Amino acid sequence: MAGKSARKEEKKVLVLLGSPRKKGNSAILADRIAKGAKAAGAKVETIFLHGLKIAPCNSCYACQKERSRGCAIKDAMQDLYPKLLAADAWVIASPVYWFTMSAQTKLFMDRCFALLAYGQDAFAGKRIAIAMSYGDADPFASGCVNALRTFQDAFRYTGAKIVGMVYGSAFGAGEIRANESLMKAAGELGKKLACPSP
Ligand SMILES: Cc1cc2nc3c(=O)[nH]c(=O)nc-3n(C[C@H](O)[C@H](O)[C@H](O)COP(=O)(O)O)c2cc1C
Repeated sequence: MAGKSARKEEKKVLVLLGSPRKKGNSAILADRIAKGAKAAGAKVETIFLHGLKIAPCNSCYACQKERSRGCAIKDAMQDLYPKLLAADAWVIASPVYWFTMSAQTKLFMDRCFALLAYGQDAFAGKRIAIAMSYGDADPFASGCVNALRTFQDAFRYTGAKIVGMVYGSAFGAGEIRANESLMKAAGELGKKLACPSP
């Protein structure tokens, strides 16, 4: 019986990788968050956004109409919407490209506008972790802070909760691993993300 109740508590975490580098710095941070979440009993699924055909929002507003059936664009987001809705938590990982999040991540974020069509509470109670990396030494000069502020505004607007954000400087793929305190913080964030507490 203990097993059954443990399964009931299992949190679903969806990891969304916004870099074209599958083994890049933001993906490494996201993976460490995922490991922390798994250690805390969560089930994790990872989506490589760059590998999917996701069109930009075309501003048709079909998703915002009364009794809307959701987004009118029939592409990979249609498979992603149910996963996004079912997940208790999302991990959004992105490199800084031109002083903000990557285009892959921004496309995904824009298309999340349609999630509101699946119910006012599509975002309510959703737990969010952000992982970012940038080449500059400084989070402000790099543009990372621009992206973090965008996530803060977007998730405040939608009613989701940002549980934590991990971000650090690294240029070549994998260099982020040398930042041990950041890697540790990512693991801790994963554990926190999978916990039911606020
Ligand atoms: C097209 C492009 C634009 C970039 N723009 C910035 C930038 O504006 N600021 C910055 O600090 N680093 C910039 N970088 C460096 C990346 O943010 C950095 O290498 C990051 O660690 C890559 O993460 P990833 O390995 O997850 O892809 C850019 C890299 C590329 C390829």
